[in-house]
Amino acid sequence: MFNGCDGMAEVTTTAGQTALRHAARLSVAPMMDWTDRHCRVFHRQISQKALLYTEMVTAPAVIHGDRDRLLGFDAGEHPVALQLGGSDPADLARATRIAAEYGYDEINLNVGCPSDRVQSGCFGAVLMERPALVADCVAAMIAGSPVEVTVKCRIGVDDQVPEEVLPAFLQTVSAAGVRRFAIHARKAWLQGLSPKENRDVPPLDYPLVHRMKAAFPDLHISVNGGIARLDQAVAFLESGLDGVMIGRAAYHEPYEVLGRADAVIFGGPEGPDRFEVIDRMRPYIAAHLAAGGRLHQITRHMLGLFHGQPGARGWRRILSERANAPGAGLEVIDAALAPVRAEAA
Ligand SMILES: Cc1cc2nc3c(=O)[nH]c(=O)nc-3n(C[C@H](O)[C@H](O)[C@H](O)COP(=O)(O)O)c2cc1C
Repeated sequence: MFNGCDGMAEVTTTAGQTALRHAARLSVAPMMDWTDRHCRVFHRQISQKALLYTEMVTAPAVIHGDRDRLLGFDAGEHPVALQLGGSDPADLARATRIAAEYGYDEINLNVGCPSDRVQSGCFGAVLMERPALVADCVAAMIAGSPVEVTVKCRIGVDDQVPEEVLPAFLQTVSAAGVRRFAIHARKAWLQGLSPKENRDVPPLDYPLVHRMKAAFPDLHISVNGGIARLDQAVAFLESGLDGVMIGRAAYHEPYEVLGRADAVIFGGPEGPDRFEVIDRMRPYIAAHLAAGGRLHQITRHMLGLFHGQPGARGWRRILSERANAPGAGLEVIDAALAPVRAEAA
């Protein structure tokens, strides 16, 4: 048995952190090119409660880039967490401070992403090999801002032995003050697999995540990887884990995953139906178009809304064919809804 709690920093839990721990019972994973602000606003119409993560933004980009474009978000997105990538404690501390001013509820450090681009900058999953550096990073982030700092990690990389390295990682990083982790329950292979293969090929080890919760009962631990349905999420929560993070399924089948989450996971009222979700999106879309944006920038995230429903194919096809045309407006959404309504009639 791991002696998980030795050496943990004394940290008091604030009301905000308690609320986030609750929201993190179900979260939508950070996904580059997918969980942009439009996607998050859409997901927020389906679930009022789930915690939403941004795409990863690197610390140098936050420091030197177009901050409003990289960090701006809609006030309706809360609770929302920014994911940062990086491995320089000073840069990460600075990026965290800047992001905190934008009003994020949480800043998450990426220790799970295996892409070449990320490896070359020495961050992402390769940091599983350097827990002391991760501890330095999160300590600097925590010192620099009142916003809660969390970590998303893998169970190991390459030939590491997860049973050994994961508890050591959690111990070292929690001793620096992190109380909440999302664990993608598979290794990343840094050589030989594409980022996409790294999300499917290395086997999932959920029992190891359960053992981490048993070894570190005071940590809030979310499991991630391969979870496709809400009832699976419920089963993980009932089995003692604190949270479930869902990525691809939430993106491709948003209503199946998030549609009943507020009632089933958070004990609140039932959420809106699919048509109400669209109605809730209309003012946001209209404002985006009025500001010169394209319809497609928003609707590309909405293609899966009717997944599995009669008329879903027509919805997808019309949005895919017409939403990217210059001047495309809300009438395209009405046209795309027609096949769904026809099937429902
Ligand atoms: C398109 C795409 C982009 C991703 N980008 C990120 C990222 O920026 N940061 C990160 O930590 N994980 C990223 N991931 C990994 C997901 O957060 C998640 O860990 C992974 O997809 C496994 O969860 P799932 O099986 O529920 O999809 C990405 C995944 C996908 C599909």
